[in-house]
Amino acid sequence: MVKPQLPQFPEPIWRDQISLPSFPALNDSIKADVGIVGGGITGITAAYLLAKQNLNVVLLDAGPVLNGTTGHTTAKITAQHGIIYDEFITHFGLEKASLYYKAAEEAKEFIEHTVSENNIACDYSKEDAYIYTNDDSYISKLEKEKEAYERLNIESKLTDTIPLDLPVKKALIMHNQAQFHPLEYLKMLLEDGLKHGLTVYENTTASDIEYNKHTSIITRDGHRVTCKYVIVASHFPFYDRQSFYFARMYPERSYLIAGKSPEKFPGGMYINAESPTRSVRSAKFQGDDVLLIGGENHKTGQGKSTMSHYEALQIFAQDHFKIDKIDYRWSAQDLTTLDKVPYIGRITKEDKTVLTATGFRKWGMTNGTIAAKILVDNILDQDNPYNDLFTPARFQADPAVRKFMEINADVAKHLIKGKLEFTKNPVDELARDDAAVTRVNGKRVGVYKDEQDAIHMVDTTCTHLGCEVTWNSGDRTWDCPCHGSRFNYSGEVVEGPAKKPLAKIEEHK
Ligand code: FES
Repeated sequence: MVKPQLPQFPEPIWRDQISLPSFPALNDSIKADVGIVGGGITGITAAYLLAKQNLNVVLLDAGPVLNGTTGHTTAKITAQHGIIYDEFITHFGLEKASLYYKAAEEAKEFIEHTVSENNIACDYSKEDAYIYTNDDSYISKLEKEKEAYERLNIESKLTDTIPLDLPVKKALIMHNQAQFHPLEYLKMLLEDGLKHGLTVYENTTASDIEYNKHTSIITRDGHRVTCKYVIVASHFPFYDRQSFYFARMYPERSYLIAGKSPEKFPGGMYINAESPTRSVRSAKFQGDDVLLIGGENHKTGQGKSTMSHYEALQIFAQDHFKIDKIDYRWSAQDLTTLDKVPYIGRITKEDKTVLTATGFRKWGMTNGTIAAKILVDNILDQDNPYNDLFTPARFQADPAVRKFMEINADVAKHLIKGKLEFTKNPVDELARDDAAVTRVNGKRVGVYKDEQDAIHMVDTTCTHLGCEVTWNSGDRTWDCPCHGSRFNYSGEVVEGPAKKPLAKIEEHK
């Protein structure tokens, strides 16, 4: 069997063939009622809702809008966030577990209602969501999760088979979930926001917040947006007011490929319980049915060669779905909080004007939507039943403390390990589009040779807290294993918490 080729460059299927509006960079200081940082699902949904309330809303994005984690999602709209409800009932009690479920349901209903009210052509379809396993040790976990579903009145079924031709011993179905084209949906919200006076600036990096009479977002170019409220929806909060979000979350990368299968897809959205993760759903694309296959999660900067993750998915696609051409490949970064519940609300307990939402743990379509609703209610001074559940100020001792220790021990390990590893002098041996780490004058240096033979050298010391970045061959980025900062091959920040680029050592032909 011939292995299907992978596309040379990563690109999510959602961004292909869609014409999104573009916006200028901010080149002045301005005022607004609400300044939003981050043009993903949370930022755009919040902007849409607030602009409809006749508030003067300004949205900033460090790149083009809808190109972060939202643009790289699997776009499942579901309350089935892995095997989670039995654990939540044990750790937080039935009431909070039920609130978490209701929040996801409310997000799903909001999306469904918005799609039908505005006739959005985004291939919205209702699907059953499945968690399946072929591993004996997960069978009892699925059975316990089914009991949790019953306690929470979730419409569900435990079964021994699924409609896909995959080896399965048990599966848990959550009925009436959904999927869609996330960017077609968010494009309409964005356009509607613009009609209601929303202003958007792209390629505008927010770097700080200042507190005077009013709160101001300060951009990297020194401009400011002075506003009554700030929403930090930049995936990793670009600003954390000493709340140490980086130590309260860990980043994971996962991978997706898409291609046409010769076989008819029976419907449904699937994810397995065990490792390595495999997630399968179909999507309509230019009139064709394509399969989206995802998985291979690992902590950022800690995996094997990034291309090998795509290759593992490629083999799975061919073995089980006879896919002989992969049209798209892309990867995403997700953040998980200490207790697996997102942080949504005031950035610190005392701070009424700066709100944030982060830590969606791969389930950004529902978590990002409910986050927008919670933050908007806070700004409009309306009660929201989910404030306490999601408040970033919480600190659940169990299991959070243990996890906190684990995460930070792991960080310490990588801080030291990275300092010791390097190759001797790889520059001469580097192939085009390849990278290695070497030492120049005692400094650890990352070297990338591009397609034109130009060499790009950066200091591999992460500008956040000094861990050593590693090369991600799939995305051509330098990724930090400690808190997930990512930099492009020339050192520019792709993803925080780092704010400053990697120091350039030299660049020559
Ligand atoms: Fe924290 Fe790199 S992201 S040290």
